[in-house]
Amino acid sequence: MTEIRVGLLGLGTIGTGVARILIEQEELMRRRLGKSVRLVAVADRDLTRDRGLDFSDVRLTDDANEIVRAEDVDLVVELIGGYEPARSFVATALAHGKHVVTANKALVAKHGEDLFPLAAEHGVAMGFEAAVGGGIPCLKALREGCAANAIESVYGILNGTCNFILTKMENEGADYADVLKEAQQLGYAEADPTFDVEGIDTAHKLSILAAMAYGSKIKFDEVFTEGISRITASDIASASELGYRIKLLGIAKPHGVNGEVNAVEMRVHPTLVPADSQLAQVSDSYNAVQVSGDFVEHTMYFGRGAGERPTASAVVADIMDIARVCSSGSGPDGVAHLAPPMGFVDAERRDLATLPVADVECEYYLRLMVQDQPGVIAAVTSILADQRISLEAMSQKERSAANSVPVVMLTHETTEGNLQAAISRIIALPAVEEDVLILRKESKVA
Ligand code: HSE
Repeated sequence: MTEIRVGLLGLGTIGTGVARILIEQEELMRRRLGKSVRLVAVADRDLTRDRGLDFSDVRLTDDANEIVRAEDVDLVVELIGGYEPARSFVATALAHGKHVVTANKALVAKHGEDLFPLAAEHGVAMGFEAAVGGGIPCLKALREGCAANAIESVYGILNGTCNFILTKMENEGADYADVLKEAQQLGYAEADPTFDVEGIDTAHKLSILAAMAYGSKIKFDEVFTEGISRITASDIASASELGYRIKLLGIAKPHGVNGEVNAVEMRVHPTLVPADSQLAQVSDSYNAVQVSGDFVEHTMYFGRGAGERPTASAVVADIMDIARVCSSGSGPDGVAHLAPPMGFVDAERRDLATLPVADVECEYYLRLMVQDQPGVIAAVTSILADQRISLEAMSQKERSAANSVPVVMLTHETTEGNLQAAISRIIALPAVEEDVLILRKESKVA
């Protein structure tokens, strides 16, 4: 019986899930593969905690360096997370001829462009399905299932923690901080939850999706990123009255002429989506990725975006893909049977520009605090008219003790540059407070 031998780095939430699958689903995996996947070694700093699993046949160590070099390991699973030391361990494993599977979106977004060539140089594979959308096989769908299409747009609800928070705030009027704590207890949140709530985790994932969709390089640092920390229950209620829900979306679209893509739009921000759209129905820690292609039209991939069992499912699917074409001692040839990691052959991947934020066209939700006195709304709308920004809807709430009232406006499409110019002029009005909340709206999502 041929087999592939796995070394696991990190026995936290996801690592425990992966070990559980490799042990509990061993027979199912053998029947699907015609060969076995054997967990031979595990490294973690804390080997004393009981994970409820039998590791009697597994070498346990607190030294990850040993596993990435070990003779008896064919494939290293990196589940430490973060940039370092994960990057060094992965680079060493690849350089030692080991396949690597990771759930680490930060690593792939930031260092993927250095690690893919290293894997190719050493004739090994790198799998990262679990890095985007947790348990949803959305990268495989985009890379392989949608390969016949020019991709027209990618919309993703890509962070389980944020979706969980926004859903609870909407349905239960729950307090932001309490819900975040609950998401942390459920194992959804990152070690540093500002990565979740400030949109960084979504930007990591979006940069991978965008590069895969358009055959470009991964440009995480160029993603326009805003999180959900300024959203209040009252914004959620205002959006709802206007027929929208607020979701933290990652959005990627191509720009160019005659079908030739020369720039990619990438943005992450809280977004108003129509309440009857499919994306608006995605709640709790669920994620969804909506990919539209010129032949296939709208497709949507939905499932658990975080947590032990779903994320481990995607990690093990990658292990099985590699195991299908590569076994212990089989040499590097098998890797050529896998789709290229980013969906385009390397020589055809381009260094496409990122569309400057000022040129992004969007519809907007604006929440202004204004003095409740005659002529203020007229002054604000006259600036909008002057900037050629057309209004779709407007509502004014009750007066507060401080005599200022929140005014919510929905605009039709304009560029970000134009909107920002209008806002600078609006907040210069003496009757308007500086603290303006700008949310973006996508009414064309499916
Ligand atoms: N912190 C991430 C989330 C985990 O909440 O979605 C999955 O990447």
